[in-house]
Amino acid sequence: MVMATLEIAGGARLKGEIEVSGAKNSILPIMAASLLSPEPCCLQEIPQLTDVRMMQEVLQFVGAKVSLSGRNLWLDGAEVVPQEVPPSLMRRLRASNLVMGSLLGRFRQVRVAYPGGCAIGSRPMDLHLKGFLALGAEIREDHGFIEARAARLRGADIHLDFPSVGATENIMMAAVLAEGVTTIRNAAKEPEIVDLQNFLNRLGARVKGAGSDVIRVHGVPRLRGGEYQVIPDRIEAGTHLVAAAITRGRVVVKNVIPEHLEALIAKLREAGVRVETLGGRSALLVEAEGRVRGVDCKTLPYPGFPTDMQPQMMALLATAEGTSVITESIFESRFKHVDELRRMGAQIKVEGRVAVVNGVPRLSGALVEATDLRAAAALVLAGLVAENTTVLEGVEHLDRGYECLDLKYEALGAQIRREAARKAAGSMRGT
Ligand code: UD1
Repeated sequence: MVMATLEIAGGARLKGEIEVSGAKNSILPIMAASLLSPEPCCLQEIPQLTDVRMMQEVLQFVGAKVSLSGRNLWLDGAEVVPQEVPPSLMRRLRASNLVMGSLLGRFRQVRVAYPGGCAIGSRPMDLHLKGFLALGAEIREDHGFIEARAARLRGADIHLDFPSVGATENIMMAAVLAEGVTTIRNAAKEPEIVDLQNFLNRLGARVKGAGSDVIRVHGVPRLRGGEYQVIPDRIEAGTHLVAAAITRGRVVVKNVIPEHLEALIAKLREAGVRVETLGGRSALLVEAEGRVRGVDCKTLPYPGFPTDMQPQMMALLATAEGTSVITESIFESRFKHVDELRRMGAQIKVEGRVAVVNGVPRLSGALVEATDLRAAAALVLAGLVAENTTVLEGVEHLDRGYECLDLKYEALGAQIRREAARKAAGSMRGT
């Protein structure tokens, strides 16, 4: 298939202001959660992302009415039925698994094909399913489908072996309409979990504790509709901070919640980047003059350094002075961007979950291919600073989670051209 490419002419220092969109990783679970209510919900300021469109198709398949009016996404779950969701829809995005919790919660039954997602390692569902089981569901897995059914869902004490974001969200959703109290221990603490809690409570749920590692859900008989605006996307914001740093630019990133970015900001400062909160605490000024210094980082569940910023940070550290050690502790094979960065002259060695990055003074433009969302972002960042032109294939991954990143960076002075259709590959790579 002929896909879009980006041609990035490196060398421009990014300067100006950039506005962050709503958080993809809040919007997707919240869209799924809207299925819990038979009344209409409206999500405000929704960015145009492929993942949002794909989630929309999953919701429509089970009978939800979904429409976009300007930047408001209307979701009406009045006619939803818990019908089997086929692989053709489920495999298009990992977050499709989040309809399990809401359909099970509302209808006491759900059957979906195994979800797909980014090529960043195996992403099992065992923790989600253990949670459903504890709430009283029976689980069956056959022919590539997962089915959960319960005559009654009853609140339970659930201890997660690992603070999985998706499992925490799915269990919260399944518990909202259950009888009694559900306690989720060792829950994920990501800001998007707090956002989901706030949305559910807006609809009349009784959820407390999100943001800490113990979440309590008091079951209620039904939910109503409501309006909601999601938090800004902390990973998009983080990507812009790194974009300013890697190009030695000066950028004001607007619509941010700085507390959500503490681990990244601390690392950037350690690397010699100036990051300051501006008045009102909803904007960050980021500025870098020379090459950054190498720093070590290890990805961890929130509030640790986010795995979703690891590829972008690696692009930055590939241009740093000195050596950096990056440890990926969340996903087992999230280093697919390494080979592509190497094509651009980066010196990176990988041993298991550890990457040793020896910074080089300059990267050089090349034909590279993104195989997942954040790898795509990292390669755009590398392209911004590389000599000559970088051609990025796999742009569809970028569009899953960034709204018009190319246009946003063009407005800051970058030279990026989107080619709608080019059969690129082969020839250039061989040379
Ligand atoms: C979410 C984010 C994703 C981010 C990730 C980690 C969304 C839509 N996606 O993904 O961008 O990279 O959090 O911050 O919010 N695991 C199990 N068993 C399970 C569930 C997970 O072993 O049942 C493991 C996974 O294989 C992985 C780790 O737990 O190694 C983290 O996964 P999880 O936190 O569940 O990530 P997602 O919710 O899929």
